[in-house]
Amino acid sequence: MTDTAHLTRRSAVAAASALAAASALRQTAQAADAMTVLITGSNRGIGLEFAKQYAAKGWNVIATTRSPDKAEELKKVASANKNVVIEQLDVADNGSVDALAAKYKGKPIDVLLNNAGISGDFMNPKPQAFGTLDHNQRDDFMHTNALGPLKVTEAFYENVKLGKGKKIVALTSLAGSFGTKFGGGIPGGYWYKISKATLNAAMVNVSMDAIKDGIIVTLLSPGQVRVEKIANAKIPGMIEPLESISGMIKVIDGLKPEDAGKLLRYSGEPQPL
Ligand SMILES: NC(=O)c1ccc[n+]([C@@H]2O[C@H](COP(=O)([O-])OP(=O)(O)OC[C@H]3O[C@@H](n4cnc5c(N)ncnc54)[C@H](OP(=O)(O)O)[C@@H]3O)[C@@H](O)[C@H]2O)c1
Repeated sequence: MTDTAHLTRRSAVAAASALAAASALRQTAQAADAMTVLITGSNRGIGLEFAKQYAAKGWNVIATTRSPDKAEELKKVASANKNVVIEQLDVADNGSVDALAAKYKGKPIDVLLNNAGISGDFMNPKPQAFGTLDHNQRDDFMHTNALGPLKVTEAFYENVKLGKGKKIVALTSLAGSFGTKFGGGIPGGYWYKISKATLNAAMVNVSMDAIKDGIIVTLLSPGQVRVEKIANAKIPGMIEPLESISGMIKVIDGLKPEDAGKLLRYSGEPQPL
């Protein structure tokens, strides 16, 4: 190895240890008596707004993202709020989930928020339309939207048991609901709808297992939210992130055991599953 290569490697190692040290410092900076939420996919969209609003409420926020280095907006939130810690988490990668769960072993989490998801390209519905389905995309949808959240829920279940909040929430869509005839979402939207319907099935099943531990597992529909990627789209009935996420936080705050296994809108109205 050349001197330059040695130096580059050494600076990469130094940068990684500095990041780990900063993360450890932040963990100790989080208030021991405050409530804690873990959010998946919190670098943009709905997850980022959740991180901002929970931080403003004084909660400890474990804001996870698959690429912490690229999470510029989230880094700004973390530097302005010492109760926000950024962690790497790819929900579709079992190793990544297990690694973070090992790091947080024995630490209480009051609300586990399964937010991360993929929906596909609104401008190109073909890969999700019957007749032109791109079957190479199905694993990504299933692993990110359904099986990943189930793995995250199982991996952090003991943390939620240790918390006072005892709530697990998953962001779904009416597009994944049999009861609304899979309305809304991307035109066609097969992979999205099927993966969200699978997420619903997974969470309803977990809700029946979790209630014996006093844990409420609920599905939330955020409405049609104007996130960055569809900021300029003209979709009827679109709402701003502030309204959807403040509504959902109110719903989460007020969850009762009878809400376990239900699908609730951001406004709190129950919806058919
Ligand atoms: N916006 C709406 O109107 C709407 C309506 C109904 C339901 N929802 C649901 O609400 C949730 C958030 O949606 P959104 O509109 O905020 O979507 P978004 O703007 O596309 O953001 C999705 C987030 O999920 C993350 N993500 C994707 N794959 C991941 C993986 N494998 N591991 C970890 N994170 C991953 C993304 O991270 P990267 O930046 O790394 O890609 C990003 O942070 C989703 O579950 C979505 O289905 C949204």
